[in-house]
Amino acid sequence: MKHYLQFSDFTLEEYAYIFQRTVHIKHKFKTYQKHRTLVDRTLAMIFEKASTRTRVSFEAGMYQMGGSVVNLTTGDSQLGRSEPIEDSAKVISRMVDLVMIRTYGQDKLTAFANNSRVPVINGLTNEFHPCQILADLFTFFEHRNFGKSPLESLKGIVVAWVGDGNNMANSWLQAADLLDFKVHVSTPSGYEIDPSISGLKSTHSFKVFADPREACKGADLVTTDVWTSMGYEAENEKRQKAFANWCVNPEMMSAAKPDALFMHCLPAHRGEEVSAEVIDGPQSVVWDEAENRMHVQKALMEYLLLGRQTDSA
Ligand code: CP
Ligand code: NVA
Repeated sequence: MKHYLQFSDFTLEEYAYIFQRTVHIKHKFKTYQKHRTLVDRTLAMIFEKASTRTRVSFEAGMYQMGGSVVNLTTGDSQLGRSEPIEDSAKVISRMVDLVMIRTYGQDKLTAFANNSRVPVINGLTNEFHPCQILADLFTFFEHRNFGKSPLESLKGIVVAWVGDGNNMANSWLQAADLLDFKVHVSTPSGYEIDPSISGLKSTHSFKVFADPREACKGADLVTTDVWTSMGYEAENEKRQKAFANWCVNPEMMSAAKPDALFMHCLPAHRGEEVSAEVIDGPQSVVWDEAENRMHVQKALMEYLLLGRQTDSA
């Protein structure tokens, strides 16, 4: 049994399969063909933090594949009344086939997975957001593949990360380490990445820049995220000041390659981490990115439950 707790949990071969399978699953969705490979399977979703995209993409995806979904939040379950996570995992995983969790510390997710009889997926923790990176990589491949395979189209690219050294940044670092591309990271001081969280095999896959414009130079993709992630709201005022120069604006985009893409996992705050001209402009692919959450996660859930399928399925 496999879990998907961080990006580094899968091999290159597994990503090659997942991306190829996503192409197939998305094509069927776009051409109104049924893809019901998870009939009678149940996904439990546990949300300890708010969500729009993660909730809708997992729930719609599971129903489209013939399965069903149980949605739990901290407020309406015993999780909010301090039932141990280990006990919750033992109970929930006896009744469903798959679990997706959005929570605070990665340690909580790991504790759940260690006590689960069924595969567990990370729907965002303070440390990682692997499902979002899966969607972002697939979106890059769709827009800039030049006839190459998903992994070939990502190999050697430069991704500029402008902003917080957060869960998204950590997951980008893991992806670059495995898929052989480079992340140019620029964060305000005090909000740096901590490569030890990502457990990187080498330091070749990232480079740190004090100036965000320098990080964007020659990039194939510029990406950012909110200044204040969920769980860090008490630091909001301090962060507003510290991050003021880390707004992806047209000037920053013009430092990147002329055909560079802009991505943001959303939700976005126009005028803070990104200007409206950029996120609503021609280089932005944020809506494709959001939609692709559903397509990649359908491939992911199917893989965790059924293993590799042939494209006739
Ligand atoms: N990007 C993302 O995970 O969005 P939600 O917080 O809306 O799920
Ligand atoms: N870094 C953000 C991502 C939201 C999808 C957060 O953790 O709140």
